[in-house]
Amino acid sequence: MAKKVAVLIGSLRKESFNRKIANELIRFAPEGLALEIVEIGSLPLYNEDLEEDSPKEWIDFREKVKAKDAVLFVSPEYNRTIPGALKNAIDVGSRPAKKSVWAGKSGAVITSSPGNLGGFGANHNIRQSVVFLDIPMMQQPEAYLSKINECFDEDGKTLNERTSKFLKSWLESYEQWISLF
Ligand SMILES: Cc1cc2nc3c(=O)[nH]c(=O)nc-3n(C[C@H](O)[C@H](O)[C@H](O)COP(=O)(O)O)c2cc1C
Repeated sequence: MAKKVAVLIGSLRKESFNRKIANELIRFAPEGLALEIVEIGSLPLYNEDLEEDSPKEWIDFREKVKAKDAVLFVSPEYNRTIPGALKNAIDVGSRPAKKSVWAGKSGAVITSSPGNLGGFGANHNIRQSVVFLDIPMMQQPEAYLSKINECFDEDGKTLNERTSKFLKSWLESYEQWISLF
């Protein structure tokens, strides 16, 4: 049976490059991986005071992630670190204490940027955060997609051959990584 993967996108923008990458990953996914985007844009900001009567959006999000075997972060870098919306989603999933939805999921991260560094800072800050949350992250191959604005065909949605080839091979490695758990 295919392993179920929650895909979290670090950008809320309609024309987000990272959302387009996530859509391409869904298209490229090998049979053994069932990728599904879990939306994070409507999650109220994490506030421990709300735990007594948790917002419906938190409950739904936690249930959706819980039902998956693995998690894949696809994110831009904001000011050299994790976009706030994505960090909020990580925090929401991590609570209440001892009921984190993350523990035991196998993870991976892809970052991108129109710049040269491919979101390196965000990539490693995501890794730092999820060490505590007990998500074993795939180490290699790393994925920092630079000049991402130049990687799509004229339709603005289809990734060029070079990037598609890289991501297909990356997905095969991720499938192997998940199969270890
Ligand atoms: C608040 C903000 C901070 C940003 N900081 C960085 C940064 O530190 N490094 C970087 O490479 N790009 C940075 N950018 C540019 C983003 O990489 C670019 O807007 C990218 O397209 C965002 O991803 P998206 O297309 O998925 O929305 C920043 C953009 C915003 C809006």
